[in-house]
Amino acid sequence: MARAKVAIVGAGNVGASVAQWAAAKELGDIVLVDIIEGLPEGRALDLWESGPICGFDLKIRGSQGYEATADSEIVIITSGVARKPGMSREDLLRVNQNIVESVVGEVVRWSPDCTLIMVTNPLDTMSYLAWKVSGFPKNRVVGQAGVLDSSRFRAFVAEELGISVEDTQALVLGGHGDEMVPLPRYCTVSGIPITQLLACDRIQKIIDRTVNAGGEIVKLLKTGSAYVSPGAAVAEMVEAILRDKKRIMPCSAYLDGEYGLKDIYFGVPAKLGACGVEKVIEVELTEEERGFMERSAALVRRSISSLNL
Ligand code: 2OP
Repeated sequence: MARAKVAIVGAGNVGASVAQWAAAKELGDIVLVDIIEGLPEGRALDLWESGPICGFDLKIRGSQGYEATADSEIVIITSGVARKPGMSREDLLRVNQNIVESVVGEVVRWSPDCTLIMVTNPLDTMSYLAWKVSGFPKNRVVGQAGVLDSSRFRAFVAEELGISVEDTQALVLGGHGDEMVPLPRYCTVSGIPITQLLACDRIQKIIDRTVNAGGEIVKLLKTGSAYVSPGAAVAEMVEAILRDKKRIMPCSAYLDGEYGLKDIYFGVPAKLGACGVEKVIEVELTEEERGFMERSAALVRRSISSLNL
């Protein structure tokens, strides 16, 4: 059987990390694209040469041109600038809009049947933009955010309780910004809601740290944002789609009435399989949780409406 082809646009830290995790899982042949001469080729060669040690046997190449991405099953877009200390994800909108528009146009030309996974910030707005520019059906454009935010929440819960991260589950919904919505009622340890294991103030601390987790790393790194965990989150989504796993993952998906929201990309639980976003799952929310979702959606909507479309 022919191997799948996975293209990654943007060979910066996030793109290279996606490539590394995807190679480790042997998800498919990999093409890295970037306009910076030598960067995608160098990153690709370096990764490919680790194959004999790590035990993956894949074609991995870098290119400045999109022709190399032709007929990819999945294209991940990481292009754009990352935050510097003191910046919000929204501060990146104008510059990243131009980049994402031109990248998506090229990607679609060479891989008209692909599924697009967006990583560029502000995430929900860039996912909406990619959907508009691509002309793809809503199931074939999805944004990565919730898998990462939920992984952060899980890590903090495990640390707080002194237990394995393996037994934690979490659901962080809403926009990938300061108003994201961690839902402790839906966070469990081996099926036990964390509300039974942790006092309210401890849970609130975990929520606050999760919401600010991207910024915490930006502040520490000083020159850029997180990339290892975002890369791992994307690879998990790629695996769910290429292997038709029907996994339920929080992702930024197009909403057409779900959660009372229309014409917006927003973080919700979704079923990921061969057709991309195969279903948006609506969970029951309390009035307070619904309020958090509405506040977060209002910010995403404002960001989307500031796009020059
Ligand atoms: C983060 O949360 C880069 O937005 C990404 O770290």
